Amino acid sequence: MPKANKKMKNIEVPGTRQFANRVEEFPDAVDLTLGQPDFDTPEPVKQAAIDAINTKPMKYSHNTGLLELRKAISEYYKSSCGADYDPNGEVLVTVGGSEGIDGVLRAIIDPGDEVLVPAPTYLGYEPIIELSGGVTKFVDMSETDYIATPELIESNITEKTKAVLLNYPTNPTGVTYTKEQMDALVEVFKKYDIFIITDEIYGENTLEGDHISLAKYPEIKEKAIVVNGLSKSHAMTGWRIGYVVAHRVIMEDITAVHLYNTICASIPSQYAAIEALTTQLHVPKEMNQAYIQRRDYIYKRLTDMGLEVSKPTGAFYIFPSIRKYEEDSFKFATDLLESVHLAVVPGRSFSEYGEGHIRLSFACSMEELTEAADRLEKYIKILDMK
Ligand SMILES: Cc1ncc(COP(=O)(O)O)c(C=O)c1O
Repeated sequence: MPKANKKMKNIEVPGTRQFANRVEEFPDAVDLTLGQPDFDTPEPVKQAAIDAINTKPMKYSHNTGLLELRKAISEYYKSSCGADYDPNGEVLVTVGGSEGIDGVLRAIIDPGDEVLVPAPTYLGYEPIIELSGGVTKFVDMSETDYIATPELIESNITEKTKAVLLNYPTNPTGVTYTKEQMDALVEVFKKYDIFIITDEIYGENTLEGDHISLAKYPEIKEKAIVVNGLSKSHAMTGWRIGYVVAHRVIMEDITAVHLYNTICASIPSQYAAIEALTTQLHVPKEMNQAYIQRRDYIYKRLTDMGLEVSKPTGAFYIFPSIRKYEEDSFKFATDLLESVHLAVVPGRSFSEYGEGHIRLSFACSMEELTEAADRLEKYIKILDMK
């Protein structure tokens, strides 16, 4: 039988999926593995897609997306960050944030190029970097409260470094960056001829303070590439709409990858996205009220159980340490699922620097969260008695 690309040997099914798939074996399981809002897409957004299907041409759009949507994205950056991104040439509509990440990485990586990825982090970057012939260099943030400090970044930059890829608010830790922290990072970014890619898909899910987008730093616009999307902000994971904003020079190459990959994003979804980014900009804040309530609840329950945990300030994940009981997070998560039927994601799924932790998603109902906390407590009591 002909064989696949040799690099495929190293591409694994992500830990999140491995556990989510096993949940089916336990019909009464509580599932805190998946990273998508439990809310429904706002009605006006759905209606906009329905109306578009009935009244607009369902043909390919411009490769970079419908002009009206690109204008809405450009406006969003102007009003939220004071940033200037020309809808013609500096905004690209993609098939979810994922396709944006893929297009960006494939457009910039030459074989052997290193991409610095502060970790623990989202597991979607490494496979694309590796398939593009690049090398993923995880930068350990476990000793700096999961913050990528300027020292950490700078000490890992070499002549092989092509880009730094930073995700914030961070999946899986829920960490956000203050203005002072971003200012200090940008001072380092200014010094080097490398790209800075930020995955800001949880930007609207900032639960405390403001989200400090990389787009707020016009002085590094030439090297800044911001990936974002509507999956999390507007509970639109199934619509598959993301976008990239960047300087027009690199955007030309990102667009070339995108157009050969997908031609353009789905047209009904693009119309839905226009609605989300014009009349529905208040929606994420409303959802955040629920996330804050759940975050406070689960944080208290975990600390009451005696687990070491930081209070997340963004996204909808919490990342307690389970080191007290078990170093191997896959073993802990497997035992937890099999004994009390609670599904969580092992920290090692987010690189080796996530080891000794588990990720719980609080994008679920309070009832589920309460039941999950009860089950975890029950399991921990069993461990305490051992
Ligand atoms: C950090 C991060 N980036 C990107 C994505 C993918 O987003 P999308 O569904 O828009 O492709 C996810 C999904 O969980 C994520 O956590």
